Amino acid sequence: MNLYGRDFLKLLDYTPEEILYLIDLAAELKDKKKKGILHDELKGKNIALIFEKTSTRTRCSFEVAASDLGMGSTYLNPTDSQIGKKESIADTVRVLAGMFDGIEYRGYGQDIVETMAKYSKVPVWNGLTNEFHPTQMLADLLTIREHFGKLKGIHLVYMGDARYNTGNSLMVACAKMGMHFTAVSNKKYFPSEALIKECKEIAEGTGAVIDFCEDPMEGTKGADVIYTDIWVSMGEPDEVWEERIKDLEPYRVTMDIMKNAGDQCVFMHCLPSFHDLNTGIGKEIKEKYGLDEMEVTDEVFESENSIVFEEAENRMHTIKAVMLATLKQN
Ligand code: CP
Ligand code: NVA
Repeated sequence: MNLYGRDFLKLLDYTPEEILYLIDLAAELKDKKKKGILHDELKGKNIALIFEKTSTRTRCSFEVAASDLGMGSTYLNPTDSQIGKKESIADTVRVLAGMFDGIEYRGYGQDIVETMAKYSKVPVWNGLTNEFHPTQMLADLLTIREHFGKLKGIHLVYMGDARYNTGNSLMVACAKMGMHFTAVSNKKYFPSEALIKECKEIAEGTGAVIDFCEDPMEGTKGADVIYTDIWVSMGEPDEVWEERIKDLEPYRVTMDIMKNAGDQCVFMHCLPSFHDLNTGIGKEIKEKYGLDEMEVTDEVFESENSIVFEEAENRMHTIKAVMLATLKQN
């Protein structure tokens, strides 16, 4: 497998074999890390991390992974660089590609990261756009495989806002890997018709099943994984909260939902999550709308079947695999 020089913009650009290769590589790198075996195979290289939206996991994953691989990293936040305000994306990326060996971008439209890749002579990695979150998918797939020992045939149910980055990407990931994806939500929040069509076409070749259900109990019966994400994503206006709560409250992941799925079912979430009142936004929502928890109850989040922190750790190992595969010449 040779992924040298490739961008990592969305899973749609990768074959199931390539995705599997990245997951296997991540598992190998994770094992090395746990055993304390050094793997600074990219010594002397440097990467740029552009974040136009905030981050804990993705930023730390890129920085720790870069350091483990022997690379330097430079973090550019939305306020301290010229990006967008005084310099176009096309100009910025051509400047950075002259200094760095790889560029990570987190921001708004997928078109921005695609433009970057067009102008960059070094690999560009998508650290989250409004439409897709591909590095999250590798971590999720690795976590599911660690738990169930396989991916094919696993039934993943996504509850909540299925038409944003995480929901879209999970549908693609399941289609590529021959899994069963069900979006359980109000139909306003199903992915776009165009993406559904593309995923169903992929599914024909991989044996995946892609379906949709508006009934929370019917849709979650027998699920292996129940996955959710916050109801209002970064970059969306505060005004949407009221409607979102009204539309998505029936799709909160509760213990009843988990029990309805069965004992085999694990809970996953890309994080951050509003499952209690220990966040600024959580407190604001409580004051305005009286909710103690949003997309998932604290009980489910803290339960034995919740594997969210294993999932979060795997962000680092999988991001490391993406960098190693795209920056190291075979
Ligand atoms: N899951 C995820 O991307 O987390 P951050 O926003 O903290 O990077
Ligand atoms: N849908 C969320 C994902 C965060 C990792 C957002 O875009 O804010």
